[in-house]
Amino acid sequence: MAQLIRPTTQYCDSYIEALREFQAEGTNQNISITSLRDNYANHVQDLLDESDAARVKPGKVPAVYYWLIDEGEYIGQVSIRHPLNESLRQWGGHIGYRIRPSRRRRGYGRQILRLALAEAQRMGLIRVMVTCYADNIGSRKMIEGGGGVLDSQVQVDGKVGLKYWIEIL
Ligand SMILES: CC(C)(COP(=O)(O)OP(=O)(O)OC[C@H]1O[C@@H](n2cnc3c(N)ncnc32)[C@H](O)[C@@H]1OP(=O)(O)O)[C@@H](O)C(=O)NCCC(=O)NCCS
Repeated sequence: MAQLIRPTTQYCDSYIEALREFQAEGTNQNISITSLRDNYANHVQDLLDESDAARVKPGKVPAVYYWLIDEGEYIGQVSIRHPLNESLRQWGGHIGYRIRPSRRRRGYGRQILRLALAEAQRMGLIRVMVTCYADNIGSRKMIEGGGGVLDSQVQVDGKVGLKYWIEIL
C-alpha cells in the first residue's frame, strides 16, 4: 500500500528517474540531474529545511514536504503550506502535489491528496485551500472527489484558476 513519508536519503534511483520525467515535461529545470546523485543528501536536507519557520526565505511560509512511496519507489510529492500568506491565499493554497508522469492515471493522485489531508489534520488544520487551473482535469477530479467545494474563480497568468476549500473535520 502506498504511504507518505518525509523526504529521506532512500529512494535515490526512483527519485532521479522521476525528476528526469518532470524535466521532460518542462518543470524542475533548475536542478542539475548529473550532480544530484552526489548531492542527494543535501537536496533532501534542503527539502526538510523548508518546513523550518526559522529558515524560510522572506515572503515564503514553511512548507512540509512528503513523498508518496509505493512498492519501494518514489511516486510523487505533496507539500503542505501553513500558515497561508496573502499570496497563497490568492493562489496556491495549503496543498500542492504532483505525481511522476509515468505513474499517472493509476489513482495515485487521489491517494496522495487523501493522505495529505490526514497529515494536515494532524498539523491542526480543519480546512484547507486547494487551487488548480480549470483545464487541469485530473487535479479537478481529485479535489472535487476529495470533498473540495468551489470558493471562487480567479484569473492566473491569463488562465482560469479555481479555488476550493476542503473541510477535514
Ligand atoms: C494532477 C495529477 C496529480 C493527477 O495525478 P494522477 O495520479 O493521474 O491522478 P489519479 O490517477 O488519481 O486521477 C484522478 C482522476 O482524474 C482523472 N485524470 C487524471 N489525469 C487526467 C487527465 N490528464 N485528463 C483527464 N482525466 C484525468 C483520472 O482518470 C481520475 O478520474 P476518475 O477517478 O474519475 O477515474 C497529475 O496529473 C500531476 O502530477 N500533474 C502535474 C502537476 C499538477 O498539475 N499538480 C496539481 C497542481 S493544481
